[in-house]
Amino acid sequence: MPAIDPALRREIDELVPELVAIRHDLHQHPELGFEEHRTSGVVRAFLERHGYAPRSSAGTGVIADVQGASGRRIALRADMDCLPMPERTPLPYRSVYEGRAHKCGHDGHTAVLLGVAALLARRRAQLPGAVRLLFQPAEEGVDGGGARRMVAEGALAGCDEVYGLHNWPGYPFGHVHVKPGAMMAQTHWLGITVHGKGGHGSQPQVCRDPIVAASQIVVALQSVVARGLGYDGGAVVSVCRFSAGTTDNVLPDHAELEGTIRTFAPAVTERVLARVSEVVHGIAAAMGVRVELALEPGYPVVDNDAGCAEAVRRVAIATVGEDCVSDDGLPMAGGEDFAYMAQAVPGAFFFVGTGAADREVPGCHHPDFDFDDRVIPTALAMFMGVIADRLAPSR
Ligand code: NI
Repeated sequence: MPAIDPALRREIDELVPELVAIRHDLHQHPELGFEEHRTSGVVRAFLERHGYAPRSSAGTGVIADVQGASGRRIALRADMDCLPMPERTPLPYRSVYEGRAHKCGHDGHTAVLLGVAALLARRRAQLPGAVRLLFQPAEEGVDGGGARRMVAEGALAGCDEVYGLHNWPGYPFGHVHVKPGAMMAQTHWLGITVHGKGGHGSQPQVCRDPIVAASQIVVALQSVVARGLGYDGGAVVSVCRFSAGTTDNVLPDHAELEGTIRTFAPAVTERVLARVSEVVHGIAAAMGVRVELALEPGYPVVDNDAGCAEAVRRVAIATVGEDCVSDDGLPMAGGEDFAYMAQAVPGAFFFVGTGAADREVPGCHHPDFDFDDRVIPTALAMFMGVIADRLAPSR
């Protein structure tokens, strides 16, 4: 594995203890989307200490600029919010708030971007271009996402490209996963209410049982992908909530289903949504119940620009070695609001693996998850490499 440039590695190693301390502090004080007041305070204080003049965006978001000699400007993005879920770890820096925890590693992403800020501050004079650091609120789906709001407020104005990364316990430690084109999924929220006719559990003949109808809908929806798309279709339809009834001898008058749809290409999205609608209404007609169906778009596809993705790949090969760079497991069916940034300017999103060969590492959004601090040097070196590659005068 080619090592990170020794001089940069020494600088990074000196910086890591402070970044880890900040990361643990953020982990202990997690904040939900658009409520990252304390977090953005920590970010601002760090940036100011390193000579930046940070400004606000999208409420709790923070932007900092490094001006360079020439016109090109590269943006790097970190997300800052936590999840509304419990912390189950025995960590000394575990969340002090009930029902709020950093279970996606955004505390780590924030610390990494602060590390970039510290390294760039020392290079201001030699930097051949400009860099914009974006500390984004609300990645986890609150009010349409913080990235969309930051883009709408002009956070990427004057930027040529944008890059973002995510830690991923599902990939081998220190590996970089990236690909051009669709990188992560278009999401749709699926909501179905089945209206039947309730009554005595012993008298189904005078009722319209919404539970049996909803059950048939759940099963039939599994044919949308399996029978509606070919081997290369690429889509996920999952019903994740089924709720009906109050007791054992009363047929309820309605049932509720909620789920998620993931797709990667517009034509597939169109087909899947159309088939979902046909299946739901068809089964409802057959079962004599009425349905309300809602299909609401979430984040769009994270569409990596080919040139930007190739740059990340090139930097990754130089940083972690060709054997540790891959596109395995991509595109990923998760959603990411970095998609809005990559729609605004060419960009690329990539994963840095935090898995282990000898044990199962809890995944993102698992109550036992914690960001692995040991990956900070690799993540930092990747961002610094991307900056060097994209601002190089010879490119
Ligand atoms: Ni995340």
